[in-house]
Formats: sequence, structure tokens, C-alpha cells
Amino acid sequence: MLNVVLITMNEGINMINFTDFYNKMGPHYDRWMETGESTLEDELNLVLETFPNPCRILDVGCGTGRISIPLQERGYFVVGADISEEMIKVAKEKDLREAYTGNFLDFEYQQEFFNGIISLHAGFSYTNDDNSIRLMIRKCHGLLVRDGRVLWDSPNEDFYGRERVLKWPAGDEIVETICYGHSISNLKELFNKEGFEVGKTWGSYSPLRLYEAGLPRLIIDAQKMNKC
Ligand SMILES: C[S@@+](CC[C@H](N)C(=O)[O-])C[C@H]1O[C@@H](n2cnc3c(N)ncnc32)[C@H](O)[C@@H]1O
Repeated sequence: MLNVVLITMNEGINMINFTDFYNKMGPHYDRWMETGESTLEDELNLVLETFPNPCRILDVGCGTGRISIPLQERGYFVVGADISEEMIKVAKEKDLREAYTGNFLDFEYQQEFFNGIISLHAGFSYTNDDNSIRLMIRKCHGLLVRDGRVLWDSPNEDFYGRERVLKWPAGDEIVETICYGHSISNLKELFNKEGFEVGKTWGSYSPLRLYEAGLPRLIIDAQKMNKC
């Protein structure tokens, strides 16, 4: 069970859990992301540099298919998985062919099938529970081919703090939820324990910069190793 914030009142502010949040954001999400800290082009370039084309990619927390669709158009075989029905609905309208609705922790697929697993602006952002994170990393390990790679990104705790409030416009209302910053040392340790070797780490997409404590993102490129 993910450790998420349920509906609470905080100084008159309505806070909703992240699934409700993204269900409300579905039709508005792509436009909102255009105002974000990085460009789709820069995010996509990192994915294209990381994975050869063609190969099989699983996009965890694919949302509206902002990343999945351009990959599919370039010839990658892409499966998108997202817990929000409304985000997946938009992805399907944009013609994402392989879409799964549900929590990644419950995702079932052929083992050792994917060459790459990506999770941009999603990943571990909606849980602060190390056990859930380990289970997600373990799931990735099982789904990846030998030497498969994960490109996984969260807010950087050193930049945003442990809890980051998202307050975004969804049509004529403002919706709010909490996502979590993570620390590079903790995530590296969890990846190592689950049989991955962490390679490069970056701290921003636009421009692409290697990880530093003062940068907003924590983007990890991890390669599957054989478990002892
Ligand atoms: C900020 S959006 C990112 C969407 C997309 N990756 C992108 O870069 O545009 C985060 C998405 O992750 C999804 N998500 C978060 N935790 C999830 C989980 N455990 N399983 C499936 N989807 C999840 C949310 O529903 C939401 O659509």
C-alpha cells in the first residue's frame, strides 16, 4: 500500500490523494507541463540517448503518454502503465497502443521482457515508504532483460525538501497533492540492494546537468546485474 496523503484540510486548502489529483489533471496535464522546469524535447533526448532504437520500453507512471507517444512514433515498442484512469484515457486518445491502468506494484507482465524501464516525473515521487520503493525496484529487476536499464526520476530532497506540495490548475479549480523528495544516497542504496548498479545521475533535464545537491531533479540510470 502506497503511503499517500488522503483528503485532509490544511489551513483551508483541500489536499487530495495523488490518484484523484491526476484524474482531475488528465485533460489539463499536457498544457500545464509546458510551463514546467524542463522541456519535453530535453527529457525525450535523455531517453533516446539511453536506449537503442528499436527496443522494448515500459513507461511507469506514463500519464498522458507525453513521453510514451513520441517513443512509439519513433519505432520503440512501448507499454505505458499508470494508476490514473483519466491520464491513461488521454494517452489512449493519443493512440498509446499498449496501456495498463493500475498501481505499478500490481503490474503483471512477461518476466525479462523489457530492455528499458523509464519513469519520468513519477517513479517514487508519490511514496515516502522505502519498502514500497524496494518492491518497485524489485519489480523492475524481474521485468528487465539481462543488462536492462532503468531511467527513473524523482524530486531531489536536497532541493525541494521531503514533502513537496503540488498546486496545479485543473480547469476552473486548483488541485493539490503531496509528492516526495528523495535522497541520492538512499535511492542508490535501495537500487544496489535490489541488484542494480547505478551509473550516471543527473539533476536537471533543461539543461542536462549531472546531479548536484542544489539541482531540482534526481534522475538515475541503473543497470540490472545478476543477483547473487
Ligand atoms: C507527473 S505525472 C508524470 C507523467 C509522465 N511520466 C510524464 O513525464 O509526463 C506522474 C504520473 O505517475 C502516476 N503514478 C504515480 N505513482 C504511480 C504508481 N505507483 N503506479 C502507477 N502510476 C503511478 C500518476 O498517476 C501520474 O499520472
